[in-house]
Amino acid sequence: MDKQMTGTIDEGAFRSNPSPSAIGVGTLKIDLRSDTITLPTPKMLEAMTQAPLGDDMRERDPTVVELEALAARMTGTEAGLFVTSGTMGNLVSMLAHTGRGGEILVDPDAHLMRSEVSGAVHVAGLAPRLYPARRGFPVLDALNSLLRPRATGSSFKTALVCIETTHNNAGGTVMPLSDMAELRAMTRDASVPLHIDGARLFNAAVSLGVPASEIVQHADSVTFCISKGLSAPFGSMVCGSAEFVARARLCRRMIGGAMRQGGVVAAAGIVALTSMVERLVDDHRRAQIIACGLHALDPRLVDPAEVETNIVMADVACTSLTVHEWIARLAAFEIDVRSYGKTRLRMVTHRHIDDEAAHAVVAGFRRVLEREAGIPS
Ligand SMILES: Cc1ncc(COP(=O)(O)O)c(C=O)c1O
Repeated sequence: MDKQMTGTIDEGAFRSNPSPSAIGVGTLKIDLRSDTITLPTPKMLEAMTQAPLGDDMRERDPTVVELEALAARMTGTEAGLFVTSGTMGNLVSMLAHTGRGGEILVDPDAHLMRSEVSGAVHVAGLAPRLYPARRGFPVLDALNSLLRPRATGSSFKTALVCIETTHNNAGGTVMPLSDMAELRAMTRDASVPLHIDGARLFNAAVSLGVPASEIVQHADSVTFCISKGLSAPFGSMVCGSAEFVARARLCRRMIGGAMRQGGVVAAAGIVALTSMVERLVDDHRRAQIIACGLHALDPRLVDPAEVETNIVMADVACTSLTVHEWIARLAAFEIDVRSYGKTRLRMVTHRHIDDEAAHAVVAGFRRVLEREAGIPS
């Protein structure tokens, strides 16, 4: 069976708080592949059936309008725009900032580089230039020396700088606010806009213990997803100045992303933003349960200090099994994880992983290790 999302909306499961054994996600009970697998809550499903609707491309959809205003308030920006995905949010941001053409400075492991680069190149007409990064974030002096406010005879100008927080491929790391302030000063001096790919912006905010607006104040725009840890069925938001969002809205239309009665899904987004942010702290705590548990089994597997939010990377190079053998062994215990590179396993906690499930993951690792070492469990 395809192990991508195979979930079905199980009414029974949604009536109570879904536990890993009751969520109806595929056949596997503890699914740590991504927080994108989270299903909508009963409150979201109810809101979706009751939302006031309109044609968002004509007189606007009142529920979309409400979601966009809420997103703007929560990020401390002037305006918001509802888009179908994080990828679309980053794409319309690139288009709106740059008007196509020039260079985008981005880190080599950014989602934008690794999974969205074709849109940057072919649709937004941008040439990616990679800045040196540590744990996903720019080495500031190095980035500063790459900023080119003007095109020269032989090179593009820097049209946009993009950062990502939390940083997905670096393992959910959070960019320190002081570095963001310094970066903002640099890009402002060079008159280059700064965009945050904040697919997991609220995980970063919860980890820093600040409102999202304290992060976003250091940038010209942000994309964040309501469809990941916040559990909405789909959608992302783009926020920034009113003028930037007006341009982004036209770009969204250009690429076919305008939605008619978008309020049906925007309603779930409102529930996500009003009721699902604070609980992210539970996902972070459960990531720590897994990280500390694995560390206790073998300190080489995970350093819990490196787990800042809801992503745990375990390096299995210290064991006798390959990542693919680990994935198969854990799946036998109904624990589903993904490989990340040659030696690492990636685990993402989310609403369907409770404390019991987090401890069960540690127990699963222990049993695999014991079996491999020939110790009866
Ligand atoms: C950091 C980051 N940016 C953007 C995206 C793209 O979001 P979407 O899958 O909604 O297009 C993802 C998806 O995982 C992500 O992790």
